[in-house]
Amino acid sequence: MTANTYQLGGRTVKRLGYGAMQLAGPGVFGPPRDPEAARAVLRAAVAAGVNHIDTSDFYGPHVTNQLIREALHPYPEDLTIVTKIGARRGADGAWLPAFGRDELIGAVHDNLRNLGLETLEVVNLRAMFDVHVPAEGSLEEPLAVLAELREQGLVRHIGLSNVTSKQVSDARRIVPIACVQNQYNLVHRDDDALIDTLAADGIAYVPFFPLGGFSPLDSATLSGVAEKLGATPMQVAIAWLLQRAPNILVIPGTSSVAHLHENMAAANLELPADALAALNGMAG
Ligand SMILES: NC(=O)c1ccc[n+]([C@@H]2O[C@H](COP(=O)([O-])OP(=O)(O)OC[C@H]3O[C@@H](n4cnc5c(N)ncnc54)[C@H](OP(=O)(O)O)[C@@H]3O)[C@@H](O)[C@H]2O)c1
Repeated sequence: MTANTYQLGGRTVKRLGYGAMQLAGPGVFGPPRDPEAARAVLRAAVAAGVNHIDTSDFYGPHVTNQLIREALHPYPEDLTIVTKIGARRGADGAWLPAFGRDELIGAVHDNLRNLGLETLEVVNLRAMFDVHVPAEGSLEEPLAVLAELREQGLVRHIGLSNVTSKQVSDARRIVPIACVQNQYNLVHRDDDALIDTLAADGIAYVPFFPLGGFSPLDSATLSGVAEKLGATPMQVAIAWLLQRAPNILVIPGTSSVAHLHENMAAANLELPADALAALNGMAG
């Protein structure tokens, strides 16, 4: 089996973590129907051994971070909370860019306040040149602002999200990059080469939508492999990511304690060569 921990900024985290985005209301906007159920999922995640939680203050907005603080503060010593800035929500829930200097500084302070922290361990700069996919554009100015916040001790490590390979290499010339968070899963593999480059340099790659996001993975090949292994399709999707490269940290999201436990069990699922071959053929 591959190692079950990896370096994320200055910390060592388990490679199977938890993504908190979908704890907010529908469309990641407003509060959830049952906030106590959301807090129960967070507590169950930590009780099950999760020590890496991914979030942002623009989830809700503010809602997800407030749920994390209410459920888990004071935080366990080994818990690493990774957040992201660079977007804001419109009154209608739209995802809008927020790359201005004051917006970035305000976002870091919002995250600190809502999470109840004095320093943010890792902050991802979420590129918004295209809301949904990586698109070229300079990140130099926002990274300079984040570097200043790092100098001030408000941010410990800087990561990137929704970025191109060129943006990653340009950014690495400006500031050390702790991690990259892009869309990647069994059927969405644009970042194969980038993952291997980052692995060679010891930089974490954190796929978002590891289970397909708002359209959970649904394929006959995946179901067939899962059935043969006595596992569920989501467990196989997680195990495939864990076996894909040692620098991949998986942050499946769920609003259900039962799904959380199912997903955590994927850490012990080893995919044999024939299963890997079938799954590798799924990319479009
Ligand atoms: N940087 C970015 O731009 C960006 C974008 C999107 C997400 N993210 C991060 O990535 C994390 C993961 O993404 P995500 O939560 O949107 O998508 P995901 O992890 O790919 O999938 C979550 C979906 O899968 C379902 N699910 C989870 N476990 C399941 C199971 N065992 N069986 C059946 N269904 C299951 C969930 O429904 P239930 O609630 O019913 O379990 C939810 O609908 C987010 O939490 C967020 O932190 C980052």
